Amino acid sequence: MSYPYQIRSLEQYRTDHQRSIQDPEGFWSEIAEHFVWKKKWDKVLEWNFTEPRVRWFEGAQLNITENCIDRHLADKADQPAIIWEPNDPSERTRTITYAILHKRVCQFAQVLRNNGVKKGDRVCIYMGMVPELAYAVLGCARIGAIHSVIFGGFSAQSIADRLADAQAEFIVTCDGAYRGAKDIPLKSVIDDALVGNQSVKRVIVYTRTRTPVSMIKGRDVWWEEEMEHAATQLEQTGSVHVPAEPMDAEDPLFILYTSGSTGKPKGVVHSSAGYMLWTNYTFVNVFQYQPKQVHFCTADIGWITGHSYILYGPLSAGATSVMFEGIPTWPDAGRFWDIVDKYKVNILYTAPTAIRSLMGFGTEPLEGKDLSSLQVLGTVGEPINEEAWHWYDEHIGKKRCPIVDTWWQTETGGVLISNLAGITPAKAAWATLPLPGVQPILVDEKGAPVTERDENGMLKGNLCIQGPWPSILRTTYGDHERCRQNYFATYDNLYFTGDGALQDADGNFRITGRVDDVLNVSGHRIGTAEVENAINCHAGVVESAVVGYPHAVKGQGIYAYVIISHFHQDAEQTRKDILQTVTRVIGPIAKPDQIQFVSGLPKTRSGKIMRRILRKIAEGETENLGDTTTLLDPGVVKEIVEGRG
Ligand code: WTA
Repeated sequence: MSYPYQIRSLEQYRTDHQRSIQDPEGFWSEIAEHFVWKKKWDKVLEWNFTEPRVRWFEGAQLNITENCIDRHLADKADQPAIIWEPNDPSERTRTITYAILHKRVCQFAQVLRNNGVKKGDRVCIYMGMVPELAYAVLGCARIGAIHSVIFGGFSAQSIADRLADAQAEFIVTCDGAYRGAKDIPLKSVIDDALVGNQSVKRVIVYTRTRTPVSMIKGRDVWWEEEMEHAATQLEQTGSVHVPAEPMDAEDPLFILYTSGSTGKPKGVVHSSAGYMLWTNYTFVNVFQYQPKQVHFCTADIGWITGHSYILYGPLSAGATSVMFEGIPTWPDAGRFWDIVDKYKVNILYTAPTAIRSLMGFGTEPLEGKDLSSLQVLGTVGEPINEEAWHWYDEHIGKKRCPIVDTWWQTETGGVLISNLAGITPAKAAWATLPLPGVQPILVDEKGAPVTERDENGMLKGNLCIQGPWPSILRTTYGDHERCRQNYFATYDNLYFTGDGALQDADGNFRITGRVDDVLNVSGHRIGTAEVENAINCHAGVVESAVVGYPHAVKGQGIYAYVIISHFHQDAEQTRKDILQTVTRVIGPIAKPDQIQFVSGLPKTRSGKIMRRILRKIAEGETENLGDTTTLLDPGVVKEIVEGRG
């Protein structure tokens, strides 16, 4: 067996889980022995949640790219590491073997060095889903630069904010990116983000779409020229190999920005050793990966799922990972199934929103597609409804593939709660049991463990985790206090997830959704405060309040109540202008689905917006709006209900 720490039975799951809790240091150090270290650790774990301070494998040194690439060269040099499927199915696909990956990552590491990037420097990566994005990410890791990947759907303003927050001096981008029928001019967005920016020294531009770009002398360079130059340099050394920088176990590997309940995204920081261990361990165990299987995670590398389960998890396990540039519905709704058929995909990992959207096309796009290679299905990003779960099970898995419902977050680095494919029981729409090393607990508002079961025998509460698993976030970049406040201050000595959950009598967890002001739109986390700030940027807007409402495909839709000044009477035009403003400030992913113009918002006497009422109205509720007597002006509720239409 190639992964000695792969759990192979329910019984073993139980023993491993128990041992991981009783003796975390013994448990994880044994697993850590199966990785490549430049220097072993002095201490396995040290932690407290008050600061918070979490240190795994203190004293150890490693480089994650040696674990993801170099160690596979002995026996898997010619095995595909990444199979790349282009947006346009008629374009040539690319197969990147571990040998090629090694060569390209080293070459790009050299490019970064040539351009003055040093260990610890922040490199912002804003690219489409091309193999070069993988080279860029791993090239950073090779030399110890901290990558901060920004999803291609974010606007110039969002990028500018993130560049400033991370104090990034380097950018890697593309001229443009293909997404379905669209062509997104990435470099031009970067140019907008850099207006007035004094700190960015270098922008490296990879050619993908041949969209005309303006290259600023002294600042912008072409990927292709830089790579060629690096290749010539490396040739002179007689080797394609660039040594991997020794990194301390706790050195940051990357920053990834995510939304919280305040208006400003936070830069979640992950460490090198703990993150490596966890993505590998969860990949091998949750999906029950077997050597030579083809794994297809449909996420974008701009999100944590892509980081952990397209790149680091699979590559550290020596797997073959499919990377798809396009979208599930272009050129038609059979695209995922074509890819499964074409590459004989064994593991398919996608999001409920994609399943629901494809479900809407019926089974016709499945006709003639051979899905018999599939062995394991996975879902992530939001609660999956039972209807979608059963459709996935029946039409995609043909009732013979276990479905893993994986619950986790950007902050957790990898999966924390999930069944293990075919090993621990699945339960439709339930994430089920915690991975070894994870101790979830449901608490009430005051932080007391929930012990009373409801009429269905369920515990219901706010989901927290006791104690640190190896890939827990270490800080929020540049603002440790914010990390403490957000995750460790709500409840004493617990990591608070922001999610609500149920637990059945067998210990299974079902995640019910966010309990804070964060929306989950098509699996993308969006803070209501961020959207409000963006809407309020529009000159005609006096005030706004944003809530989520159930949306058949997206899971949650964005509903905005907006007060506009009396100078803006053309409602239709204003609506379009607001959408345009949000696109400018955050990006198209945050555009409200519904905008309702109102003359006032329901507020308490202390001026707090009663979102509970707004949520109910957005959900279509007109009668039972709860107690409205504490409102400053109860009349406003009636007007809003009538205006909902
Ligand atoms: C939600 C994505 C129910 C949850 C990996 C969490 C889920 C947020 C599931 C994190 C699941 C993720 N079932 N809800 N299987 N997976 N979520 O940071 O609300 O983009 O807090 O990480 O997605 O979103 P993020």
